[in-house]
Amino acid sequence: MKQKVYITRKLPEELIAPLCEQYEVGMWDEADVPVPRDVLEKELQRADGVISLLTETLDRELLARCENLKVISNVAVGYNNIDVAAATEHGIVVTNTPDVLTETTADLTFALMLGTARRLEEAAHYLRTGNWQTWSPFQLVGQDVYGATLGIFGLGRIGEAVARRATAFGMEILYTNRTRNVKAEQKYGANFVDKETLLKKADFVCVLMPYTAETVDFIAADELSLMKTTAILINTARGGIVNEAALFEALVRGDILAAGLDVFEREPVDVQHPLLTLPNVFPLPHIGSASEQTRTKMVQLAIQNLHSVLQGEQPKHPVNK
Ligand code: GLV
Repeated sequence: MKQKVYITRKLPEELIAPLCEQYEVGMWDEADVPVPRDVLEKELQRADGVISLLTETLDRELLARCENLKVISNVAVGYNNIDVAAATEHGIVVTNTPDVLTETTADLTFALMLGTARRLEEAAHYLRTGNWQTWSPFQLVGQDVYGATLGIFGLGRIGEAVARRATAFGMEILYTNRTRNVKAEQKYGANFVDKETLLKKADFVCVLMPYTAETVDFIAADELSLMKTTAILINTARGGIVNEAALFEALVRGDILAAGLDVFEREPVDVQHPLLTLPNVFPLPHIGSASEQTRTKMVQLAIQNLHSVLQGEQPKHPVNK
C-alpha cells in the first residue's frame, strides 16, 4: 500500500508529479484560500507526510491526533507555525527550506531599504495622482543608501547576503547575533556590536532573525527610542519580532523616519491597520522569497525533504533538535 501525503495548498501539477508516482497524494484544491482547520485535521489523521505552508498552524493539539504522521515538510525557512517540541515528542520530523531562498529574500530586503529611503511608493503615487507639475530641488527627497550605516539583527544566511550587497553600496555594517560571525566580519567588514550601539548608530536597522519565544517584541518602544530620527526600520523576518503599536507611535511622532515591512504580527494584515495609513510605511504582503525560480526550488526542496523521511533516510534540512 502506498504511503499517504497531504499538500495543504494547490501546487502546480508538474512540480508534484514525482510525488504522485510514489505516494497517494491528497491536495487542498485552492491556491489562494488556506485549508480550513477541520479539513486539515481530517486529512492529517490519515497522512504519513504533509507538505505545509507558513499559513498552517500545526500545534500540539492537532499533532496529538496525527497518529501516522512521520514528517512535516514546511515550504519556508521559518517554522514558527509548527510546534516543533510537540512534533518531536510524537516522533514527527520537521523540515524547512533554507539556502534556496537566501538571495531572493536579501534582494527584497534591499528593495525595501531603497524603497523606503527614496520614497518610491509615495513618489509613484504622487505621479499617478497628477501631482507632478514641475521638477523641484527638494521634491520627494529621501535619504542616501549608498555610504549609510547598516545594522543587521541576525547575521545568518540571509543577513550575510544582505551584508554582501551592502558592501557594493559602500555601507558600514554593524551586526548583532547570538554568536559572533567572524567569517562575515572578515568578508564584509561587519562589526559585531551590542544591541544598543547598533540601534543608536544605524541608518538602516534590518530585522533578520528567527521568530522564537526569545525574539517576541525584540524591537519595541525602548529600542525604537534609541534609533536616529533619520533611521529606517526594515523587517523581512516575522511580524511579531517588532511591536507594531510601538512602531506606529514612533513613526507618527517622528522618532524614526520610515519602515519597510514585508511581515506583520497577523497575516494577512487588516487593510484598516493603523500602520497602513502612514505614508512613511512601505508595506508588502510577505513576498520575501517570491520569485518564480525560488518558489519553485522551495517546493522541490520540500518534496525532497518529505521523500527522504518517508524512505527512512536523513532529510537535507531537519529542524528538530
Ligand atoms: C518565509 O517567510 C519563510 O520563512 O520562508
